[in-house]
Amino acid sequence: MKAMQVNKADQGPVLILAELPKPKAGPGEVVVHIHAAGVTPTELLWYPTTHTKSGQTRMRAVPGHEFSGVISEIGKDVPGFEVNDEVYGMNDWFSDGATAEFCITLPHSIARKPTSLTHELAATVPIGALTAWQGLFDRAQLQSGERVLIHGGAGAVGLYAVQLAHRHKAHVIATASARNADFVRKLGAEEVIDYQTSRFEDQVGKVDVVFDGVGGETLNRSWTVLNRGGRLVTIAADCEGTTDPRVKGAFFIVDPNQKQLVEIAKQLDAGDLRAFAKASIPLNEAPAAYSGAVSEKRGYGKIVIAVAA
Ligand SMILES: NC(=O)c1ccc[n+]([C@@H]2O[C@H](COP(=O)([O-])OP(=O)(O)OC[C@H]3O[C@@H](n4cnc5c(N)ncnc54)[C@H](OP(=O)(O)O)[C@@H]3O)[C@@H](O)[C@H]2O)c1
Repeated sequence: MKAMQVNKADQGPVLILAELPKPKAGPGEVVVHIHAAGVTPTELLWYPTTHTKSGQTRMRAVPGHEFSGVISEIGKDVPGFEVNDEVYGMNDWFSDGATAEFCITLPHSIARKPTSLTHELAATVPIGALTAWQGLFDRAQLQSGERVLIHGGAGAVGLYAVQLAHRHKAHVIATASARNADFVRKLGAEEVIDYQTSRFEDQVGKVDVVFDGVGGETLNRSWTVLNRGGRLVTIAADCEGTTDPRVKGAFFIVDPNQKQLVEIAKQLDAGDLRAFAKASIPLNEAPAAYSGAVSEKRGYGKIVIAVAA
């Protein structure tokens, strides 16, 4: 099968097209024929892309751990799915990902694809929507009526955080650049702060929850806006190796979760949640999507790799 692999180069990681053996489903595993895979560019630098589970250097990882496709093979002891089911979801960060014609996953990491979405749109959903869900509800325990500040409200994760928090009846304040302010308001933000022309801490007042998708200075300055008893969660890639105990406690990495994927698909099909793709490009152009060189940048959300036409 065709797949993209991460290759080390002087200027940083680059993707190269490779011909790999088609994976076979072991017991408890599922092989998905990938129709489309989402792109998270920073993933090339994440620990599981560069290290094995046991801490050794990892070479030639296949990136892209969210996808939409069709089940092509099922191993022993996999209840609930059949060959030819259309599914969307994630696979293990340490396994070869979905920027390939086929990939292995586990049943608890996938769910039926939202029927109202194309594979390309469905592939943009899992990481963004699950990260937002787990940050707001599992970790920050956001309650209806609370005030939540979402940094990066127009980003691939932020656009779900804004929608989910709004549907949960929280008061949503988001940071975004001016060109994205209307988009973020339409997603459900009551207030949008232009982070390029103002300091959010001068405008926001106190909040119960900060959901940070930016990191760095933005994260450092966010602790001061929390109410007593306020909660802060961050997903920013630059926090992964932090030694600051407060940041360590606030940082998490999204987990695959079938129950949440089922609920997210329901909300998408009901029109309560909306998915967005910035651009769709073929597999052989994946290097440009990861390096930021895709010229056709329009719309919102993620770039998606259309693997099977
Ligand atoms: N921990 C996890 O499990 C996990 C999962 C997914 C992603 N991530 C990480 O989370 C981060 C966001 O991911 P993403 O996919 O949503 O990225 P993205 O689509 O590139 O969005 C990033 C957003 O950040 C906004 N932004 C940039 N600087 C800002 C600032 N100073 N203040 C406020 N907003 C700012 C940009 O807003 P404008 O476009 O409005 O300028 C952009 O929309 C990345 O670091 C990614 O690696 C982590």
